[in-house]
Amino acid sequence: MTNKGLSTDSYKGVRDFYPEEMAVQSYIFAVWADTAESFGFERYDASILEPSELYKSKGAENEEMVNEQTYTFIDRGNREVTLRPEMTPTVARMVAGRRRELSYPIRWYSIPNLFRYERPQKGRLREHYQLNCDIFGADHFSVDVEVISLAYHIFLNFGATPNMFEIRINNRKEMTEIYNTFGIADTETQTKITRLNDKFRKITKDEYKNELRKIVDDKKIVEQIYHILSIGDNESENPVLKGLLELGIKNVRVDRSLARGFDYYTGTIFEIFDVSGENNRSMLGGGRYDNLTALFGGEPITGIGFGFGDVTMHDFLETHGLLTSNITAPTLVILPTDAKHNMEAQKIAQAFRDSDISVTVDCSNKKLGKKISDAVDAFVSYVLILGDDEIKTKKYSVKNLGEKSEQAGTLTELIAKLSS
Ligand code: HAM
Repeated sequence: MTNKGLSTDSYKGVRDFYPEEMAVQSYIFAVWADTAESFGFERYDASILEPSELYKSKGAENEEMVNEQTYTFIDRGNREVTLRPEMTPTVARMVAGRRRELSYPIRWYSIPNLFRYERPQKGRLREHYQLNCDIFGADHFSVDVEVISLAYHIFLNFGATPNMFEIRINNRKEMTEIYNTFGIADTETQTKITRLNDKFRKITKDEYKNELRKIVDDKKIVEQIYHILSIGDNESENPVLKGLLELGIKNVRVDRSLARGFDYYTGTIFEIFDVSGENNRSMLGGGRYDNLTALFGGEPITGIGFGFGDVTMHDFLETHGLLTSNITAPTLVILPTDAKHNMEAQKIAQAFRDSDISVTVDCSNKKLGKKISDAVDAFVSYVLILGDDEIKTKKYSVKNLGEKSEQAGTLTELIAKLSS
């Protein structure tokens, strides 16, 4: 009988990050963090574990998310615990916890991993990382503009141009006004329409109308709502749209079909899409939520922000040829000609590292020629061959693999040359 061993596959819908994938991931996170910090956002973090009630409380309620999409379990102390499916309730909890000490407005960002029990498909996995940027304690429309502008600049900082993506915005309050003009004043009915609208782009025209007929029993109103939802509007009086245009951000339109899946949004809502047609899921979504901190008692503190997923970010960059090959090779590799020189190589390596030059030692038993070609393949800049002569004379030479040039000298001289 052969022992096949355990599967080396990762758990369904989650990813391993091998070094080459981790290099890309680190690049994405670095651009995210740098851009958020350029807008004055401060980083925070929290545990992936939250008490399940955080997602069940009234106001944070999202049936699909809570009932079908969370990883929830009972701990050994009989507490119900959930792996966070999103960061917004967590950040609201943290802000509420220090509500009196904080000086508003606050701008906070984080890059949490989130867990949702979804059917794995393109752009959607069971674990993803999500840049979250939120501003609390300021409700002027220019703050909505600022947050969307931050999202826009993230794209530019990855080398994207505005014609590659589109910002769609809507406003829950304006939608309420629209429903009111049709005599649909009941909040519960309005929420049902919002939830249906969330599927607007995923179902057919007839399916949408049939579903809407079940909520609003008036054919004429159904037709009118459908019409409003299906036209894009670039001349709207929406102040956020105007503010963005004023900042020169033109790839934006009001889209009345934009609903967002969470019930907590109360004002501006927005999503960003790839226009290539390759990736039809939203890459980023967010909005204003006035009452989320009220879950924890006290006066509510208004917040606005977005979540930007790494899976969709990666797909977007790949589709548009924006993924730079991110090389994490060391600057220098020391190549001992014999294993007996390995320890001396370690000492020399540390001397370079002390001057901020990244170094490894090739401690394999390969032939020197193979060691050199491995270094070339790994995009290493320099190699130092360490043999009997070098050890005896304490004079070394460093080869520049790209330029095929060579410099010789003492360790101190070479360190000075490489760090200049
Ligand atoms: P969301 O629309 O659920 O919003 O997620 C935001 C983004 O996260 C999506 O546009 C998508 O890129 C990514 N995403 C969501 N689910 C998955 C998944 N299963 N696999 C891969 N990527 C995914 C929120 O989570 C809100 N809490 C965002 C927010 C922050 N609103 C205000 N502040």
